[in-house]
Amino acid sequence: MADPVQLLSERFIAAIRTALPKLEGEIDPQIAPNKNPALGDFQCNAALALSKRAGAKPRDLAQALVKLVKVDDLCEPLTDAAIAGPGFINLRLRPDALSNALAAMNRPDLGLAPVEKPQTIVVDLFGVNLAKQMHVGHLRSTIIGDTLANTFARLGHTVIRQNHVGDWGLPIAMVTARLGRLASEGKVDLAKLTLDQLDEAYKAAKLEADADERGLAAVKKFGLGPKAQAELEEQVAGALEKDRAARETLVKLQAHEPATYAVWKAIATTTMRECLAVCARLKSDITDAHSAGESSYSEELAPLVADLVSRGVATESDGALVVRCEGIEEPCIVRKSDGGFLYATTDLAAIRRRVQKLGASRVIYVVDIRQSLHFKQVFQAARQAGYARTASGENASLEHAAFGTILGEDGRPFKSRSGENVKLAFLLQEAVERAMREVQSRSRDLTEAEQRAIAEAVGIAAMKYADLSGDRVKDYVFSLDRMVAFEGNTGPYLQYALVRIRSIFRKAAERGIATPGASAASGGFVVTEPAEKALALTLLKYPGVVRSVGESLEPHRLCGYLYDLAGAFSSFFDACPVLAAESEGARDARLRLCDLTARVLADGFGVLGLPVVERM
Ligand code: ARG
Repeated sequence: MADPVQLLSERFIAAIRTALPKLEGEIDPQIAPNKNPALGDFQCNAALALSKRAGAKPRDLAQALVKLVKVDDLCEPLTDAAIAGPGFINLRLRPDALSNALAAMNRPDLGLAPVEKPQTIVVDLFGVNLAKQMHVGHLRSTIIGDTLANTFARLGHTVIRQNHVGDWGLPIAMVTARLGRLASEGKVDLAKLTLDQLDEAYKAAKLEADADERGLAAVKKFGLGPKAQAELEEQVAGALEKDRAARETLVKLQAHEPATYAVWKAIATTTMRECLAVCARLKSDITDAHSAGESSYSEELAPLVADLVSRGVATESDGALVVRCEGIEEPCIVRKSDGGFLYATTDLAAIRRRVQKLGASRVIYVVDIRQSLHFKQVFQAARQAGYARTASGENASLEHAAFGTILGEDGRPFKSRSGENVKLAFLLQEAVERAMREVQSRSRDLTEAEQRAIAEAVGIAAMKYADLSGDRVKDYVFSLDRMVAFEGNTGPYLQYALVRIRSIFRKAAERGIATPGASAASGGFVVTEPAEKALALTLLKYPGVVRSVGESLEPHRLCGYLYDLAGAFSSFFDACPVLAAESEGARDARLRLCDLTARVLADGFGVLGLPVVERM
C-alpha cells in the first residue's frame, strides 16, 4: 500500500470517470485534509469542483461518487451521511489503514521500488571551461545536476553523467598560444601550472586579443590627434596578430601537433584537477570518468555539418550554414562564414552521441537559464536532423533544467566587492568556517578533530541545501549566514533533525532497549495520536515525492518534503513520549516510527547529496 492521499485520488478519479464517462480532460479529485477533523481525516471536494463542467448538481454527483468509489480498504464505510454541506465528501481513514501502509513501506527500499521500465538518462552537468576557476555559477549546475542524477539512479534508471567541458575553440587556443609562448621563454613551468596562473593567462590573452577598433574609428572621426591614433593602431595591429596566432594554434591543436597539444593537455589537466577537487569536497559525484568535453567532438563536426548540408537540413545564409528551426525565429548557426564551428555545432554532435551511441531516451541539461534559446535551437535542430531519434524510432526527450542566477545581498549577480568572480573553493571554506563556529559553541564536549569533521559536513550541506531548496529557475541571494543557520529551512536544521532521532536510539541502546529496523519481524505500527497520524501521512508521501522530482526535475520538492517531515517528527516527539511511553508496546511502536523517519531522512539526504552526521 502506498500514500493514502495518492490512493484516494486514484480511486476517486476512477469513480468520476465511471460517473461521468463523457467528461474530457484532466480530472483533479481534490482530496484535501478535512477542514473539520471531527468529521474525518480528509475530504473530497470533486463534486463541487466538477458540477459545472458535468452539468450536474454537486449533491447528486457526490451521491453518485459515494456509491461508486471503492475505498473500503482505506476508509470507514462511505454512506450518504458522509456528504456534507453542498457536496463535500468526508473521509475517515480506517485505524489499520495507516499502520498497514507503514508496514508495507518498512522495507529497505522504503516503498520506492525500481521502475519497471528503466530508461537510460544522460545528465549534462558541471560544464566548466578550461583555464577558469570554479565560480558560484558552477555551483548550481554541479549540485542540481548531481541531485537529479542521484534521483534517477534512486528510481532505478541507468544514469550517465556527462561533463561538457568547455575545452575547445578559439578562446582556449588563445590561452594555449600564450602559455606556449611563456613556457618557451621560460616564464612558466608547464609541469607546475596552477589554476590561478591559468585564470590570469586567460584574462591577459583575452585583453590582448581585444582590438579597440571602435576606439580607433572614434579617434579618426573626431581627430583626437596622431598620438592617440598611433597608440590605438598599434593595439589593433597587436590584437590582430594575437588573433592570427590563436587561429594557427587552433589548427595545430586540431592536428594534434605534439608541442601545442602538450600545452593544451597541461591546461586541461590543471583545470580539471582543481575543479574536480572542489566537486569531491562538495561530495558531488563528478569525476574524470564523466568528462566528455567539447574537444571530444572536434573530429565529428565537419562530417556532421556535411551530413546536414547533404540532406538539406542546413542551408547557406550570408556565407554561414544555418538550420532554420521550426517555431523559432533565430536560425541555429552550425558553421560561421569563416568556416569555424560553434557551441551549437558541438551540442548537436553531443545529442547524436548521447541518444544514438549512449542509448539515452532522456537527456537533461542542467545549465543556466540564460542559455534557453541556445537549447531550444539545438533541440529543435537535432530533431529536424534526426539526431534525437532513438533505436525504437521515437525522439528522445531533450530537457533543459534551467536555473537562475545566484545574487549577492545587493540583489545583483554575486561578485566580490571589486567586481571579480569569487572562487567557489573560497566560499566553501567560508561556509565550513562558519559551521565550525556554530559547532564549537554547541558541542564543546567533542574534540577539535571531531568538530572539524562535523563542520565540514555541515558547511557543505548548508551550501548545497540553500541551492536546492529554492525554485530551480528562480534567482536566489547567496547568504552564508542564512545557509549555515541551525534553525529554519536549512541543511544544518535537517541534519540536526536526523541527529536528534539517532540520539534517541543511542539512549535506547544505553538502556538495553532493542531497536527496530526494517528487518525487525516483531510488532507493527500503531497510529492513534493526531501527531502520529500526521507523521505517518507525511512518511507515506516519500516515494511519490522522489518520483515527482524525477518528472519535474525540481529538487526543491524533496527539500520541502524533508523539511515538513522534520517538522512532523518534531511535533510528534513533543506530543508523544517515546522512551517514556505508557507501555512497552507503545514505546516499541513509536521507536518504529522514529526509525522509519530516520531512514527516510537519510535516504532523502542521499538523493540530495547531503552528508549525514552522527552528532552535532
Ligand atoms: N561550458 C558551458 C558554459 O560555461 C556549459 C556547458 C553546458 N552544456 C552543454 N551541453 N552545452 O556555458
